[in-house]
Amino acid sequence: MGRTPFIAGNWKMNKTVAEAVELIKELKASFSGVQGVEVAVAPPFTALYAVSKELKDSSICLAAQNLFWEEKGAFTGEISPLMLKGLGCHYVIIGHSERRQYFGETDGTVNRKIKAAMTHGLKPIFCIGETLNEREGGKTFSVIERQIEGGLENLGAKEIEPLVIAYEPVWAIGTGKTATPQEAEEVHRFIREKFVKMYSRPFAESIRIQYGGSVTPENVKGLMSQEDIDGALVGGASLKQETFSKIVRFKEI
Ligand code: 13P
Repeated sequence: MGRTPFIAGNWKMNKTVAEAVELIKELKASFSGVQGVEVAVAPPFTALYAVSKELKDSSICLAAQNLFWEEKGAFTGEISPLMLKGLGCHYVIIGHSERRQYFGETDGTVNRKIKAAMTHGLKPIFCIGETLNEREGGKTFSVIERQIEGGLENLGAKEIEPLVIAYEPVWAIGTGKTATPQEAEEVHRFIREKFVKMYSRPFAESIRIQYGGSVTPENVKGLMSQEDIDGALVGGASLKQETFSKIVRFKEI
């Protein structure tokens, strides 16, 4: 299929600068020799500069966890795409369910952020996923469809070429309850078919769709063996070298 697997660690609101530097040094050492897998880490904003310096001679990509869509100005507490670009970020996570749940992000704000990221050459990791209520109410596919249509409104295939999708069922995040490979694959397939309808089959086949939600060294292989699962967005298990490097080395398990 030609899609390079993409494993990213979302450190969320964890790690001081000193802790982040310690972890990235360990990760760099443990990933040497890994081939055919793209790896990214998303430290908190405060540690991006220090981690970026450590990654200068490394193939590990740097990701931010959020951005604001304006370039600069009176927006206290926000971080602009220009600032992230200046730090050497390659990727930016957009629309994570924790931002939607706790910080009022909507499909509309996600759309503005995706556009701003694209304009400044940052590749979005666009997060979507249903809550437990929505799943139990049989609304998984309609929620996913709404999030994709809203998040990508007025964006053409050319513009979103570098985009990565992360399917993260909210009920599986931080709960230890992973979607089974079959449950995840069913939604990943649906997402790909949605891209066929919105854009084209070749484009849909080229786009990478990560799974996120309690990914561990124990379940990564089963998930990654599914046809439409192209990577993982890892939370808790990305905070320790032992577990994250096992996940990155899933082919060797
Ligand atoms: P956990 O791996 O801790 O469930 O978090 C997943 C996630 O939200 C990654 O963005």
